[in-house]
Amino acid sequence: MPDRIYFDHSATTPIDPRVAFAMTLPNGECYGNPSSLHSEGRQARDLINRARAQVAGLIGATPAEIVFTASGTEADNLALLGVFRFANGDRLGHMITSSIEHPAITETCRFLEQNGVQATYLPVDEHGVVDPDDLAKALRPDTRLVSIMAANNVVGTLQPIAELARIAKEHGALFHTDAVQSAGKVPLDVGQVPVDMVSMSAHKLHGPKGIGALYIRSGVHLQPLVFGGGQEHGLRSATENVAGIVGFGAAAQLAASDMTDEAVRLVQLRYRLLAGLQEVLPGLSDWPSFQAASGPSLSRVCRSGGRIDPVVVEFG
Ligand SMILES: Cc1ncc(COP(=O)(O)O)c(C=O)c1O
Repeated sequence: MPDRIYFDHSATTPIDPRVAFAMTLPNGECYGNPSSLHSEGRQARDLINRARAQVAGLIGATPAEIVFTASGTEADNLALLGVFRFANGDRLGHMITSSIEHPAITETCRFLEQNGVQATYLPVDEHGVVDPDDLAKALRPDTRLVSIMAANNVVGTLQPIAELARIAKEHGALFHTDAVQSAGKVPLDVGQVPVDMVSMSAHKLHGPKGIGALYIRSGVHLQPLVFGGGQEHGLRSATENVAGIVGFGAAAQLAASDMTDEAVRLVQLRYRLLAGLQEVLPGLSDWPSFQAASGPSLSRVCRSGGRIDPVVVEFG
């Protein structure tokens, strides 16, 4: 038994040694610029093409629908700002999100509100879940975008994304989901679920930090945030982070192949962790109940009458 076990996988995950190995090629001999036409450039381009197919495969997308970004935060920003950027007057319109999104969404919403977009923040129930009826009631004729996270980063509850996306689409609004916490852990097939955009981040699935991706359904048009050489379909100009992209691809492929076994293993560990904590910390319980729909990788506990933060600090 090691002295210390790292539990904070919602903040970040350790890099898988197989991912680190895959990254040695672009970090070493495959140093070409993917935009160069010579063989060094083409080698780097091939590595990116392969990784794009691997990330697309994780969610049943086509490679052309994946745009690499510098993070999950940037993917979220691109989704929201890309819809509303350059809109003015009547085209500004309305968006809907939930009250429990990551700051990458809420802060972007605040910025949009300061620039004339109207935003509705849907409440959640005691398990942290959005009620689809609340979404149906909040939709307006000028609602252009709905953005609801797939799994919450603090309590881990899963949102009924398929139903929420269907309601938004029936209304003619675009649907984005921040799947940074669920990608690679909970299956999502964009062939079955009518989402228009999905944000992902490699470092949450044993890949490197500083690389994310936005799935953009074919036919959905966004405005770029970064202008320049036209990389990433013109939506995210900049010389690509080839090593990061290759690492993301390798991590996505591993997550896709291990997802079912890993989910079973994590749920068993989650029960064991709670039982062990309850032995040393009486009064500790799981919240929301494990019965509520939640991702396998996130456990949360609460202590009656006390804050959990001192417990985390105490455990170091
Ligand atoms: C739900 C969610 N969205 C977005 C992000 C931001 O991702 P990144 O750290 O890649 O910027 C995080 C990171 O914690 C997250 O949990």
